[in-house]
Amino acid sequence: MGGSLLITRIGELVTNAPDASAPGPGEPGGFAAITDAALVIDGNRVAWTGPAARAPAADDVLDAAGRAVLPGFVDSHAHLVFAGDRSAEFAARMAGRPYQAGGIRTTVAATRAATEAELRAGLHRLAGEMLRQGTTTFECKSGYGLTTRDEARSVTLAAELTREVTYLGAHVVPPEFAADPAGYVDLVRGPMLAACAAHCRWVDVFCERGAFGADEARAVLTAGMARGLLPRVHANQLGPGPGIRLAVELGAASADHCTFVTDADVSALASSRTVATLLPGAEFSTRQPYPDARRLLDAGVTVALATDCNPGTSYTTSMPFCIALAVRDMRMTTEEAVWSATAGGARALRRPDVGYLAPGARADLVMLNAPSHAHLAYRPGVPLVHAVYQSGAARVSRQTDSFRRLT
Ligand code: NIG
Ligand code: FE
Repeated sequence: MGGSLLITRIGELVTNAPDASAPGPGEPGGFAAITDAALVIDGNRVAWTGPAARAPAADDVLDAAGRAVLPGFVDSHAHLVFAGDRSAEFAARMAGRPYQAGGIRTTVAATRAATEAELRAGLHRLAGEMLRQGTTTFECKSGYGLTTRDEARSVTLAAELTREVTYLGAHVVPPEFAADPAGYVDLVRGPMLAACAAHCRWVDVFCERGAFGADEARAVLTAGMARGLLPRVHANQLGPGPGIRLAVELGAASADHCTFVTDADVSALASSRTVATLLPGAEFSTRQPYPDARRLLDAGVTVALATDCNPGTSYTTSMPFCIALAVRDMRMTTEEAVWSATAGGARALRRPDVGYLAPGARADLVMLNAPSHAHLAYRPGVPLVHAVYQSGAARVSRQTDSFRRLT
């Protein structure tokens, strides 16, 4: 790692740190930003943030020329280890067929048939897409193997790229256990868990009609917890159900989806540390109603945004796309959406080192080819990421392109 780097003439520096040296618009712990700002990276950490006029000297200087700088996005929900393609299922859905959880089995068959090299190539391709769109931390689940060998292979591969690896053996009951779902739950919380746990930080269950009920989900989550894994839950995605209350009961870091919620679900979340992770890419791609973010936020629930990147219900790696959906269709403010995609994701992963930019934070940041964070929603679908730093190192930098008139 070289010496220190001063990034100066930042048009808007989103810090998410209310104690930054200039006041931000957010309440304590919420979105905060400084205009005409600068930031110093030293090694892999942020060393200083504040007004450009007061910036200290550093070994190197980068002129941001008025661009916005944000914490790198924290994508706290993704399924990146899989093979196969379900574009035909997507097309059929857009033509009117409803989404059913059983589509997961198509990807399971393709994933089992794939080589390790093929799975690794797919994972690296998707992680590269994430990075180029500003994501510097991501969570990655297993769940398309559903045998001990295939789940262990998935978590081992995921651990090559992220420390936020989630064991999702309880994604759906595979066809060979169709007549014996209890036997599958025993496998998931027994030998399959034993083969996977060393590579994972998290245990997750798809708690939904057509997947696993509350008792089955509790059995899997508590078995994972007994091995030191931390729980998170796919909850209330396709209909009302027990998932959110189970997540709160077990002290899960996050209940994910939260699309069909009751008043009791909202108050359970509001009086807990469990983050509601909203995944608008899934509603976009399944034509479901979006989760009611305002109801959750107004009740005091901590909200994260993530992509849910997976081949069935949300085949996007783009946090900017999810921010745009959250602002346009879920009525989150631009500040709330950016906070949820950065600091919110960090809370959903219980990561104190990312999601904000202040001295001591990991130097994960994204520079936009735009003057403010609002452009992420204001200019949907536009590749605005100009540069990405991960742990203090430049990982993406965009040269200026110029369009050519062809005859
Ligand atoms: O998060 N909800 C469960 N898992 C995925 C869907 C996976 C699939 O259809 O392949 C989700 O939406
Ligand atoms: Fe998911």
